[in-house]
Amino acid sequence: VISVKTKAITAKIAPTMWGVFFEDINLGADGGIYAELVKNRSFEFFKPLMGWTVNGSQVKEGDILILNRKAENTSNPRYLRATVRKAEKEGVGLLNEGFRGMGIRKGLRYDFSVMYRQQHPGITLHIQLLNSGGGVIGDTVLIPAYQDTMWHKQQVSFTATETEPKAKMQLWLEGNGVIDLDIISLFPSNTWKNRPGGMRADMVQLLADMKPGFIRFPGGCIVEGFDLSQRYQWKKTIGPIEERQLIINRWNFEFAHRPTPDYFQTFGLGFFEYFQLAEDIGAEPLPILNCGMACQFNSAELVPLNELAPYIQDALDLIEFANGDATTQWGKVRADMGHPSPFHLKLLGVGNENWGPQYVERLKLFTNAIKAKYPDIKLVNSSGTDPDGERFDYLNNELRNMHADIIDEHYYRSPQWFLQNAQRYDHYPRNGSKIFAGEYAAQSDKTVSINNKNNWYTALSEAAFMTGLERNADVVNMASYAPLFAHTDGWQWTPDLIWVDNLRSYGTPNYYVQQLFSLNKGTAVVPVKLDNAVIAGQDSLYASACIDEKKNELIIKLVNVADKQQSYTIALEDAKPAATQASVTVLQSDERASVNSFEHPQYVFPRESVIKVPGKKIPLDIAPYSFTIVKIKL
Ligand code: AHR
Repeated sequence: VISVKTKAITAKIAPTMWGVFFEDINLGADGGIYAELVKNRSFEFFKPLMGWTVNGSQVKEGDILILNRKAENTSNPRYLRATVRKAEKEGVGLLNEGFRGMGIRKGLRYDFSVMYRQQHPGITLHIQLLNSGGGVIGDTVLIPAYQDTMWHKQQVSFTATETEPKAKMQLWLEGNGVIDLDIISLFPSNTWKNRPGGMRADMVQLLADMKPGFIRFPGGCIVEGFDLSQRYQWKKTIGPIEERQLIINRWNFEFAHRPTPDYFQTFGLGFFEYFQLAEDIGAEPLPILNCGMACQFNSAELVPLNELAPYIQDALDLIEFANGDATTQWGKVRADMGHPSPFHLKLLGVGNENWGPQYVERLKLFTNAIKAKYPDIKLVNSSGTDPDGERFDYLNNELRNMHADIIDEHYYRSPQWFLQNAQRYDHYPRNGSKIFAGEYAAQSDKTVSINNKNNWYTALSEAAFMTGLERNADVVNMASYAPLFAHTDGWQWTPDLIWVDNLRSYGTPNYYVQQLFSLNKGTAVVPVKLDNAVIAGQDSLYASACIDEKKNELIIKLVNVADKQQSYTIALEDAKPAATQASVTVLQSDERASVNSFEHPQYVFPRESVIKVPGKKIPLDIAPYSFTIVKIKL
């Protein structure tokens, strides 16, 4: 008998409880959710023509040059100068390969834009999309309208005639003269909320469908950088895209090594867009800022304490950017970008996976300055990378002594670790610092091996562990799986919650576990017990229960990691069901190795049914290897 006391609330569940962790890893942003199709649109990659091929029957050495105006434009110094000598349509050209090709859809409008400068008229731009056989699957023409010494932006739209997952974009420069080109861009028109220059709608929809309580951004290790020059600097990610200074992405060199780095952060998706995304999907924004330390696994570069002031100022300015009104310096920047109302920032992270006394001394300076000016902002602090090690214990003590608001714990571990740790928080102090399980994923192979699979057993073990998070909602206020996205042709890390290619996306079994917890969050935890004990492994069963006080609903989550069906009676000890039926959602597979895929995106997928509720005692069969949610009206 599984007994539930519906009135004996043990904890309130924070609205932020289940969220998402976004990082530009695995082509998460550029080449992923940021819908730009042109790779190296502003010629700023280390190799200026990376992604581009110069072609055409009339092109001669020196006709296509990359020039540098560093003295006048530090954020976007390079541009392309084309000298065109009485060229026919296919005489002088540039071919862009896209990130891993370009995903093009038949019948969809594409918006091409370019910044150009020409002193005399005479050159026509022909834009063509090519399928993998080189056939034209959409084309248009752009005649630059201005002739002077200024840069101008011009756009033209056209419709694709064929669907192609690996298209390329060909530009032909026909005519005679000299033209300078920069920010050569192509976007599909079906972006999220149809925003020009926006995000891939299918990928955002998968996030929206989770109804996440928060979105943490922009990482992850990219916050820290290999060294400090590569750290994430939010101020360089806002404003007009041509003024956003690109940097190399630190995930170039991990695992899927490519001979020349081709993974950069253009910041077309920058902090304004992250805040807007959070607002769109109803999630609290949780930005994480560099704390004056580069990644301790890489350069471990440190900002001397007496030089930390600009880093701290960045944090203060970010709060003003998010929350200040248009009379403030940074609030005005936000308003000028089209968002006069505040983004209501309440949470801010300082440091990602930083540890040691160096972290603590830097964090103290940040904390003092932020709390002095913005006492209501809750700060998220790192607890390093080893949830069971000495480093963690040291840091945890220090952070608790500092009365840290929220401590961010990360664990990439085996499914067994997740099962064994379902009671990890049962014995944590109930008062003081709260916990953010900020990055976690069960690994089917050696931790962080590239052979890891998002198989059903990893998802099931995460579900079991998450019942422990929910049971301890008075301690754990936030949790997010990581990483979030991976492109099938461009990943560096597995497992990942959502997989995409240039046209498609699907949620893994782990995604559906996250989604089910989030959609069935409830507002308060109540006790659910087997033989009067917390259910954390007996009979291979894990469970948590909560009530939704607004809906008057009891929500029981049960995870059966056994290979056999188990039958129980659910006994409501202190309440009567209000209906004769209860809804049941089951995520299940008989095979622990089951995965979802582009071909079978819903192989492991939640199925809904109803069961009879004869009274306070409800018989329930729990399928082998299953995650079951029972909702009973009270
Ligand atoms: O999620 C991938 C990486 O794992 C994150 O960037 C980092 O914080 C952690 O080590």
